[in-house]
Amino acid sequence: MQITVNGSTHQLDVDEDMPLLWALRDELNMTGTKFGCGKGLCGACTIHLDGQAVRSCLTPVSAAVGKSITTIEGLSKDGKHPLQKAWIEHGVPQCGYCQCGQIMSAAALLARNASPSDTEIDNAMSGNLCRCGTYPRIKIAIKSAASQSAAFYNADRTAEEATS
Ligand code: FES
Ligand code: FES
Repeated sequence: MQITVNGSTHQLDVDEDMPLLWALRDELNMTGTKFGCGKGLCGACTIHLDGQAVRSCLTPVSAAVGKSITTIEGLSKDGKHPLQKAWIEHGVPQCGYCQCGQIMSAAALLARNASPSDTEIDNAMSGNLCRCGTYPRIKIAIKSAASQSAAFYNADRTAEEATS
């Protein structure tokens, strides 16, 4: 099977039912995506599939063939996604384990809604658990990033158009 991760194609010789999380971590050595519960309950393994936030522990590799996979390693070319900057600015992580999944869920939200309400943020983030309790700082950081994200995505599009 061939899958595309962060713009690069990879050939995998694995069972088509293998969870995408295993393929990313064990086959491709992309360990930014974390294993938490393995049952779709914690959100630690969140990635994007064609721009949608999905749980990679529940997604078979076969479901990702022909689609665009984005992991935390590919969220931005240079670590300057507004969420990444806001996470640093507001000192969000404690142990850090859940944070890649948190950022990927938040990024999918801002990609479709650059100015989410409190309720929309709560709904989008409700499936991502944090045993350290960083929820208040996560929300502050998302709001901070949201104020910049429209400009970020427009700038990104402009850059892509300029190089295409
Ligand atoms: S590891 Fe996938 S949701 Fe918990
Ligand atoms: S920062 Fe430790 S689990 Fe969220």
